[in-house]
Amino acid sequence: MKNVLLCIGIILSINLLLGCASNMNLKDKYKDYFPLGAAVNAATITSSEDLLKTHFKSLTAENEMKPESIHPRLGKWQFYGADEIADFARDNNMLMRGHTFVWHQQMPGWFFSSMGGPVDRELLLERVKEHMEVMAERYNDVVYAWDVVNEAISDEKEEYLRPSPFLKIIGEDYIDLAFHMAHEIMPEAKLFYNDYSVLDPVKQDKIYKLLSDMIDRGVPVDGIGLQGHWDIYYPEAHILEEAIERFAGLGLDIHITELDVSFFKFSDRDSRYKEPPPSLLKMQNERYDSIFEVLRRNHDKVQAVTFWGVADYSTWLDHFPVKGRKNWPLLFDVDQNPKPAFDSVMDFR
Ligand code: GLA
Repeated sequence: MKNVLLCIGIILSINLLLGCASNMNLKDKYKDYFPLGAAVNAATITSSEDLLKTHFKSLTAENEMKPESIHPRLGKWQFYGADEIADFARDNNMLMRGHTFVWHQQMPGWFFSSMGGPVDRELLLERVKEHMEVMAERYNDVVYAWDVVNEAISDEKEEYLRPSPFLKIIGEDYIDLAFHMAHEIMPEAKLFYNDYSVLDPVKQDKIYKLLSDMIDRGVPVDGIGLQGHWDIYYPEAHILEEAIERFAGLGLDIHITELDVSFFKFSDRDSRYKEPPPSLLKMQNERYDSIFEVLRRNHDKVQAVTFWGVADYSTWLDHFPVKGRKNWPLLFDVDQNPKPAFDSVMDFR
């Protein structure tokens, strides 16, 4: 009897240990909520290989799938960076979010010109279509969602659509047309409108109008991407939760597409630190905690969450908005070890 009890005890402890071990990584811990992803580039895909395999279920190419990178000159396609990332995703059974087709930045100059002058509406639409066809053909097996249009809404209070070559050359229907084309070319893919400052009330109203009008017109938009470039002071949980409820009310999927939590307010161009101050690390920990608490509670409405980077050794926030100012916005530190924020994101039942 004693031996039987001892055996049962040992088996239970082993199971408990195995259970804990498999829950020590993000992707297993969140498997009943949403896939957690990371933006990667040609360098981080190698330098963070282990971290990516252990913790993440989805990848986004930070730059490699943008038109400027992949189609830098007329007729010259440059697939190697995107291929490397897509192959990594395929080999490791990961999902990919495609980023991005129609954006006012990181487009190659040739896209908007023809025979020494500006391109006309028809040719520009033809170029967008060709671009989508080539990308779909090459990556459709691994990319399940595309940011079809990125950042089309203006930050100016009185202005609706952001001035861009697409708006100027094609006209206001360029967003609808991009979604119709994408749907025709890749009917299986989830099609997203992606933007920043979606929690800002004025900008949110404009984005809401854009999406609800598109839905009324029968435009095939599946979801909204909230970029999620936030900071240790913002957003409050209720603001995030209200936005999620509002957009889910339109029947849209919601992805957090570019999550990071900066040490600095966007307006703060002065502060800088050699090391992350413990008091601010604590604030970051609390912010991540409150963001993820909302996201988990709304996992019926939020289908994916992607960090804009893997670990603090490589982040766009080291270059923006202040060039050369070190920032520590992610869950893993510069040595790729888990930070307090990692523990708080993992700390739930
Ligand atoms: C925006 C874009 C991303 C990336 C970030 C900064 O949010 O959508 O592709 O360029 O800015 O890295």
